Amino acid sequence: MTALTRILLVGASGRMGQQLLPLIQADTRCTLAAAATGRGGHELGLGDVPQLTVGTLNDAPEVDVVIDFSRPAGLEAALEFCLRRRVPLVSGSTSLDDFHWAALDSAAQRIPVLWAANFSLGVVLLTELVRRCAAVLQGWDCDIVESHHAMKLDAPSGTALHLGAAVESERGELPRMHSLRAGDIVGEHTVQFAGKGERIELVHRATNRVIFARGALEAALRLVGQPPGRYAIAELML
Ligand SMILES: NC(=O)c1ccc[n+]([C@@H]2O[C@H](COP(=O)([O-])OP(=O)(O)OC[C@H]3O[C@@H](n4cnc5c(N)ncnc54)[C@H](OP(=O)(O)O)[C@@H]3O)[C@@H](O)[C@H]2O)c1
Repeated sequence: MTALTRILLVGASGRMGQQLLPLIQADTRCTLAAAATGRGGHELGLGDVPQLTVGTLNDAPEVDVVIDFSRPAGLEAALEFCLRRRVPLVSGSTSLDDFHWAALDSAAQRIPVLWAANFSLGVVLLTELVRRCAAVLQGWDCDIVESHHAMKLDAPSGTALHLGAAVESERGELPRMHSLRAGDIVGEHTVQFAGKGERIELVHRATNRVIFARGALEAALRLVGQPPGRYAIAELML
């Protein structure tokens, strides 16, 4: 019988953490080894599973992989932990800066690292379609419009920046980005290419956060056993 993949979840009390917890617990390929939050004091109802904060990650039992959906500070703590234990990291935390990008690159020399702005299969494929449009439709105006719930802290979204980078890689310049924050929108991204007399719109609508959680869990299970390096979500999902 193959051993279960032991997962440490960072950000367990958050909207994403709450989607991941039941998925991990229900998946017969893995087990929740420990759960960490930012401040602690949450009753997550995890029974015997150790509940930590990002300040006490050292107390975690042995794990095979870490999944982080928290804040930049949570990612830093998770990365430090992964380097110390030599285990892979999957992270979807956003609002990262140059310090974090450099830290992820440097860590990737010693452990497998996957950071993705969006873990949904639809957005992984959308990125490929956007890249193709950007390459073929040189000279057309390109705009990205993204809408999210009113509680979202960062703008533009990590996904909009990621789609923008795909356009930039083909044209040498970023498209314009427009952000809306309203109600409980899970996440919508429209990439519009407008030429003279015609227009293409590529739209992705997330209606449930579980798509990100499912993608992150799948990526984590596939990252275990891989050599050190920086992995792209498309490499693991397409
Ligand atoms: N890549 C993707 O596919 C994707 C999809 C959705 C969201 N996200 C990103 O994932 C992250 C989490 O989103 P969410 O909606 O779940 O957020 P959330 O509901 O606000 O939850 C944040 C989680 O992080 C913890 N936390 C807060 N401050 C922290 C700190 N300074 N250090 C360590 N941990 C801290 C919180 O713990 P406490 O409750 O104890 O504060 C909580 O567990 C965000 O960056 C969001 O943009 C990414």
